[in-house]
Amino acid sequence: MLTMRISFDSAAEFYDETRGPPKSVMDQLVKTLMDELDGYKTVLDAGVGTGRFAKPLQDNGFKVVGVDIAKRMIEKAAGKGVTNMICGDVCFLPFKEDSFDVAVCVHILHLIREWKMALQEVCRVTTKAMISIDYMRKNPVREAYNSILKKYGYESRRLGKGERELKNLVKPKSVPVASYETSADERLNHLGQRAYSSQWEIPEDVNRKVVSELKKQFWGRKFPQELHLLVWNVRDLEAYCGTFKSALS
Ligand SMILES: C[S@@+](CC[C@H](N)C(=O)[O-])C[C@H]1O[C@@H](n2cnc3c(N)ncnc32)[C@H](O)[C@@H]1O
Repeated sequence: MLTMRISFDSAAEFYDETRGPPKSVMDQLVKTLMDELDGYKTVLDAGVGTGRFAKPLQDNGFKVVGVDIAKRMIEKAAGKGVTNMICGDVCFLPFKEDSFDVAVCVHILHLIREWKMALQEVCRVTTKAMISIDYMRKNPVREAYNSILKKYGYESRRLGKGERELKNLVKPKSVPVASYETSADERLNHLGQRAYSSQWEIPEDVNRKVVSELKKQFWGRKFPQELHLLVWNVRDLEAYCGTFKSALS
């Protein structure tokens, strides 16, 4: 079976420059993640990307295995020293049941049409928790982008439900990481260069017009943001999506 998913091969060169919160917030995020992982050893990084999380976790002694369908993202991670990565689809994980204590699953489910299948697979190989991150406040620039885009007859592409939507279906523990300000300019620049996968099917001239309208409205402005870590109990997720674990395990 072939799943429908969005590979980030074409984003490998600009991914790190266009993603994530400011460095001080990222450091706090990694520290909070480390605190949550206290007592665990083995971690699956599902959709490891350029190793944003795998790298600091490996550096701090966790046994991390990363999986990603994008070879070029994996190469970027390898260039930073990340090891133990497999190029493959999280919907078909080549691991036995209960191979990992925890799965880190950050910004991947919305890229997979069979997102429930991915979730089932992650739960099958994980015993305790699945962890993700959530930006608690909607970004006004992004909201406006989507509505102006509709005016031109296009929609931002999302294949599956994201981790943010999952939190409304299965309740995780929500751990505050940091409150901080985000710059509209930075977001506008990233939207201008079509850095986000949801934009990759939007024609360039349409994107240019949308971003130019947005710039008039938002350039120079700042917005508050709040970052949380989401921690699901694997059992709760299994109760929602079903389990492939054998009854004897
Ligand atoms: C937005 S990036 C997030 C990367 C990393 N988790 C992070 O937070 O920096 C999503 C990653 O998921 C990968 N991906 C998408 N669908 C996938 C699938 N079905 N199996 C494995 N990786 C997938 C993409 O190639 C991309 O590297």
